[in-house]
Amino acid sequence: MSQLQATPRAVQRIVHGLPTSDGAGVKLRRVIGQPQLPDLDPFLMLDEFGTDRAEDYIAGFPDHPHRGFETVTYMLDGRMRHRDNHGNEGVLVPGSVQWMTAGRGLVHSEMPEQQEGRMRGFQLWLNLPAREKMTEPKYQEFGPERIPSAAPAPGVTAKVIAGTVAGVTGPIRQPATDPTYVDLAIAPGARFEQQLPADYAAFLYVFEGEIQVGTEPQAVRTHELAVLGEGTLVQLKGLKAAGNGSPARAILVAGRPLKEPVAKYGPFVMNTRAELQRAFEDFQAGRF
Ligand code: FE2
Repeated sequence: MSQLQATPRAVQRIVHGLPTSDGAGVKLRRVIGQPQLPDLDPFLMLDEFGTDRAEDYIAGFPDHPHRGFETVTYMLDGRMRHRDNHGNEGVLVPGSVQWMTAGRGLVHSEMPEQQEGRMRGFQLWLNLPAREKMTEPKYQEFGPERIPSAAPAPGVTAKVIAGTVAGVTGPIRQPATDPTYVDLAIAPGARFEQQLPADYAAFLYVFEGEIQVGTEPQAVRTHELAVLGEGTLVQLKGLKAAGNGSPARAILVAGRPLKEPVAKYGPFVMNTRAELQRAFEDFQAGRF
C-alpha cells in the first residue's frame, strides 16, 4: 500500500490591491487584474469593495456588457440590485453569492440598493474554456441561508461557496474550472487545513486580521493577497485578530487553470483577437 505524501503550498508572492475606481466611479481595490498580477489562470480579476462612505459606491455600475467568462459577486455588507437585458433581476443581500455565467453575452447593471451605510464584498472574474465561452448566460444565485458553514477545526468557521471543506460542499457547480471558494474566519492560534489538487491555481486574500501560511515567517496581512505555490495542502494559522477582537477573515479560492490563449479587452474575454472583434460587433449591433 502506498500513500501519497501531502505537499504543503508555500506563499509564492504577496500582492497588494491597487486603489482604483470602476463603473460610474465606485472606489475599490483591484487585486487581480492589475500590473502586479494581471491574471492568475483561471482567475482574471478580483476586486474588493469596502467602504462606509455612500459617495464611494452610490454611482454603482450602470449598464455594461460581459462576454466569455463568469463574474462572482460575494456580498459581505450592503445590498446591490442587479438587472440584465434578458429579464433577470434580483437583490444581493449580505452573505449572498451571485455566480453569473455571462457566456455569449448580456448587458446588466449592478446598483446599490441603499443610500447610506456600509457596502463591502468581492467580485471575482473566472475565465470560461473556449468550448463554453458562447454558452447561454445563466445565474447561480444563493442567499446567505443557502451557503453552508463548516467547522473544520476549533476556532475555525468556513462558509463554503464552492468546493468541499470538512465534508461540507458549497452550492456552486462549475465543472470546467472546478472552483473552491471559501470564506474563512480563523481565531488567533487556530489552524485550518484544506486539500487541493496540486496544480490548481490558489490564493488567499485576507480582509481582516492576519493569517500565517504553513511555517512562513511572514504573515499575510489585511488587504494582502498571497499567491500560493503548487502543492496538495493549504495550511493556515490565525494570527492577530481584527481590531475588534474577532477572528481573522480571508477568502481562500482555487481553480483548475485553463491553459488557453486569452484575448481580453474590458468586459470581453475570448481566445483570439478575431473573437474579440466579433464581441465588439455583436455588442454594437445589440446582439447581446
Ligand atoms: Fe458586471
